[in-house]
Amino acid sequence: MNTCALTLAQQTSWLTKKIFGAPGASELARDSDSIFMWIFYFSLFWFILLMGLMIYWVIKYRRRPGVPIQRTPHHNTNLELAWTILPSLFLGYMFYIGFQGYIKQVIAPTNAEMIDVRGSKWMWTITYANGVNPPEMTEIGGNPQAPIIYIPVGRPVQFRMTSSDVLHSFWIPDFRFKQDLMPNRYSSFWIEAEAPGDHYLFCAEYCGDKHSEMSAIIRAIPADEYDALLQKWFDDSGNLTPVEAGKRLVESKGGCIACHSLTGAPGIGPTWLNAWGYEVPLTDGTTIPADDPDAWDNYIRESIINPAAKIRSGFAPVMTPFAGVFSEEELDSIVEYIKSLSDKAPAGEIPADDSPEQPES
Ligand code: CUA
Repeated sequence: MNTCALTLAQQTSWLTKKIFGAPGASELARDSDSIFMWIFYFSLFWFILLMGLMIYWVIKYRRRPGVPIQRTPHHNTNLELAWTILPSLFLGYMFYIGFQGYIKQVIAPTNAEMIDVRGSKWMWTITYANGVNPPEMTEIGGNPQAPIIYIPVGRPVQFRMTSSDVLHSFWIPDFRFKQDLMPNRYSSFWIEAEAPGDHYLFCAEYCGDKHSEMSAIIRAIPADEYDALLQKWFDDSGNLTPVEAGKRLVESKGGCIACHSLTGAPGIGPTWLNAWGYEVPLTDGTTIPADDPDAWDNYIRESIINPAAKIRSGFAPVMTPFAGVFSEEELDSIVEYIKSLSDKAPAGEIPADDSPEQPES
């Protein structure tokens, strides 16, 4: 569908390439480009015409000694009607094509594949229709834990989005669309990939310290491979040990490693390496005692659900509460995983199996 007659010429123009970089990855994206370029050339034409005339007249009719001041002409009804109605028609057309494009992008086809997106400081949590979270990560800029979000080629995909904390914005430049995520409500839009390939995803709404690292990859793969991959993740998730399940949760669904390192490196939050079982000073002057497994398990659990309850000295209370995000079973797994990263973890418990924990206290 060619939105306007100039589409083809503009797609290949030098300026179009300069402005957009990569060509649009879908028909809607290319429509959006041509609408943008149409408005750009329209504005450019009038800018040059009006500014040119103004400069010409300013020079031609400038005050000069010996030349009497001319009477300013005023009121020509036909002229005024013309310069009001004609531009209004063009503006009406711009609104029409823009609004039509917007509606096309937010109203998904009824057969669209639904992918849930939750934004939080500072990560994207993706949940597919079968309940799995994509476990694969990659490095983008300063973010070593950017999720890879797989989508099928040739099938519409609808992102249903919400936020746990502040405003975020889900922006895929190659698809020329972004949509805000808001706490306590859903927003959505849809895309359809035409070919296999990677596309960047960025957060386009300033949301705090690591806003610029809130990135991901949208990876389009053939639809049959996509179905097989989702099924494989689904099957895998059934037979993980608690430690393995916890690892997967903090990397994918929780996105915890954006702020908590596993290596001892400093981060927004405390590192998890050798954290469990060691004494931790809190900002209220109390401590989590060393070698008290129950205290430690409770501290981790509480810090996930209600992070502000106990703040470790030297850290700011910036974490988003995860109450309601994880099931009780998932919380257990995360505690097990964090425990497994500590050399104080009770011997024989790691790698954990299905046997009960807490041998002694
Ligand atoms: Cu999230 Cu910026």
